Amino acid sequence: MKVITMNTAAEIGAAAGSMFVQTVQNKENAVLGLATGATPLPTYDYMAQACARGEVSFKKVSTFNLDEYCDLPQSHKNSYFTFMSENLFSRIDVDMQNVHFLNGNAPDAEAESRRYAAEIEAAGGIDIQFLGIGRNGHIAFNEPSDKFTNDAFKVHLTESTIEANSIYFDDVPMPHYAMTMGIGSIMRAKKIVLVATGKSKAEAVRAMICGDIDPHCPASILKAHPDCTIFLDEDAASLL
Ligand code: F6R
Repeated sequence: MKVITMNTAAEIGAAAGSMFVQTVQNKENAVLGLATGATPLPTYDYMAQACARGEVSFKKVSTFNLDEYCDLPQSHKNSYFTFMSENLFSRIDVDMQNVHFLNGNAPDAEAESRRYAAEIEAAGGIDIQFLGIGRNGHIAFNEPSDKFTNDAFKVHLTESTIEANSIYFDDVPMPHYAMTMGIGSIMRAKKIVLVATGKSKAEAVRAMICGDIDPHCPASILKAHPDCTIFLDEDAASLL
């Protein structure tokens, strides 16, 4: 794992964003793995600006998002689909037919997992995957547990995750379940870019980088990936 520390979230966004842009410049039908949350916003800004400048076109790209809440309509303002539409998809020339999401309301989570795995495979696998990290070391919604997961599954979110994300919910209570890509699906991406910014991530970053590979810090598995770049700001790197 390659660890790069930079001064500001905007600088990190430009560096991570240019990795995505270059991937698409080199392969017009690249498959992008995308995340939601506060962390990717500067990266998505960079991608949108590069597209507006005509440096890259996302017309032939396919995207797969990491996760989606259960028990929330896809059109709800807090769904991850809405988040991605507002923060990235409406700002680039992606064809919405090529945008893929887990269905958090699928009646059969295992069938939904098989559907997503088959779609990723049919697209040729994920070329570059963006990841944030939770305060408890989660990646996607793979919460600390006794074993690493493989394909997508339905997860009961931990108190730490519910506390961190419930600030975004003002009209309905935050769902306690989500559908998430598993660790195996993430590790099969050809290239991974993880970004962590802010003091609240420092302990998880320390465990990921300095600790053993351990499912109690799911992000620690990234040490076993052959092409993983970690971008940190000084606060997130402060316990290294
Ligand atoms: C979001 C996701 C999560 C977030 C993580 C950090 O799709 O998979 O793992 O990346 O919870 O969230 P932020 O960036 O809001 O601190």
